[in-house]
Amino acid sequence: MSKNTTTNVSGAQAADHDRIYIFDTTLRDGEQAPGATMTLEEKLQIAELLDEMGVDIIEAGFPIASNGDFEAVSEIAKRSKNSVIAGLARAIPADIDRAGEAVRHAGRGRIHTFVSTSPIHLAHQMKKSQEEVLEIVTQTVTQARNLIDDVEWSAMDATRTPLDYLARCTEAAIRAGATTINIPDTVGYSTPEDYCQLFKDLIEMVPDSDKVIFSTHCHNDLGLAVANSLAGVRGGARQVECTINGVGERAGNAALEEMVMSIRTRSDVLPYRTGIETTHLTKVSKIVSAAANFPVQYNKAIVGKNAFAHESGIHQDGVLKHAETYEIMTPESVGLKSTSLVMGKHSGRHAFKEKLKDFGYELGDNQFQEAFARFKDLADRKKNVYDEDIIALVDDEIGSAGDRIKLVELEVISKTGGEHRCYVKLDVEGDEVSVIEEGSGSVDAIFRAIKSAVGAQPRLVLYGVDAVTGGTDAQANAHVRLEMNDRIVSGRATEPDTLVATARAYLSAYNRLLVDRGAAAQGALASQSV
Ligand code: KIV
Ligand code: ZN
Repeated sequence: MSKNTTTNVSGAQAADHDRIYIFDTTLRDGEQAPGATMTLEEKLQIAELLDEMGVDIIEAGFPIASNGDFEAVSEIAKRSKNSVIAGLARAIPADIDRAGEAVRHAGRGRIHTFVSTSPIHLAHQMKKSQEEVLEIVTQTVTQARNLIDDVEWSAMDATRTPLDYLARCTEAAIRAGATTINIPDTVGYSTPEDYCQLFKDLIEMVPDSDKVIFSTHCHNDLGLAVANSLAGVRGGARQVECTINGVGERAGNAALEEMVMSIRTRSDVLPYRTGIETTHLTKVSKIVSAAANFPVQYNKAIVGKNAFAHESGIHQDGVLKHAETYEIMTPESVGLKSTSLVMGKHSGRHAFKEKLKDFGYELGDNQFQEAFARFKDLADRKKNVYDEDIIALVDDEIGSAGDRIKLVELEVISKTGGEHRCYVKLDVEGDEVSVIEEGSGSVDAIFRAIKSAVGAQPRLVLYGVDAVTGGTDAQANAHVRLEMNDRIVSGRATEPDTLVATARAYLSAYNRLLVDRGAAAQGALASQSV
């Protein structure tokens, strides 16, 4: 493999002292959230949006984990226009070669290699001494630098690592040629004061620290990921690692939209700038939520449904008189558009397309036709079609594209104190399969019927339904989480009927179990809890 000699972010722009580089890891750390598996098409779409939005570095995946991950990273690398494309690698020669191979075709590629440094990880997971790990740092970073000029090294569980040892490892990584040094708060344990000081100390102690870019990577176990990342910036970090909607393992990662909007809104106390076009935030949040099957909580900062909704009379009155009374940023600045176009059964294709554009959706021809047909059907059944209905319908359409098993017919009979029976007809990759099953209730009967039709026994981890809008004719939004062979996947579906939504959400999760991510992916991730 030839060495990629393109300029890396760190070397070229280190001089621009107030510029914060945004490293998005939605497609790697974000995808590790239970149930958040995405298809190749979804990853390509998200990477394109991140690139367009001005993300500096996109961590596109973990190439050794599976052929699917490798393909996603190399395809994103080939298509990227401006962003640096990073591939993750453990401190293992085969991982590093595979990551190098995957990012080889990027205009600007990066190998991101990591090793644990904390005593608890060394003793129980790595079973190696500090000196052995130090040697591994030098060897692996050297190997990566022989493949590519842009190498990031991460000290996993850095915030629980003794400072002097962390400084020795960092020094070894810089000597071996690392261009970015990442100091992850892997378990979300740090506090803003400690994290800020950690960067100050390392930058002061480590020789040649001014030749590299230091990076934050914060998990949100104590709800401090964004605050810690901003504190890291104050301590001298100039790259922040984050994910859209804060999606990620356990409580997730620092949310990109919160980082970027904090820096933009509070430039008086955070005198930095990013290259992010913030008007793309709402759109990318929706697409990631639909692709990863991760609903965004209503009160989520910046992109939650209620983030700009003023319910109380006093607030509404103030905002109407002067928006800044209760608004510290405008909805438009994050790409939220208020539109007065009313949708009903007489609305045509053009109006529907305009509406989708306002919401930030760009559908391909076939997907648009399908979505429009569903909208017409909904408008026939429902008196008022609200924005939320259209968003739910289109998210559903995007989420179910490419499903290998589809619902053809469903009939449910439920009697008080009596039987609960479900007849289901499925299209299983072109073959029709019909089954009747009984259950303890209608939902149980539906799940049993689908399981017996597809012939697999996934375990139900979670089931929930909520209404998209108010009213008895509201659409139902059903969520299902399934587990099979150590994999957890989520599915959701929106339908005017609750039981149809339930059946389709179950199938949506089941279809995700069929997405070939390979057992290797799960094994590799489990062996190093990244
Ligand atoms: O949380 C973590 O330590 C990671 C590393 C792989 C950077 O995700
Ligand atoms: Zn992480």
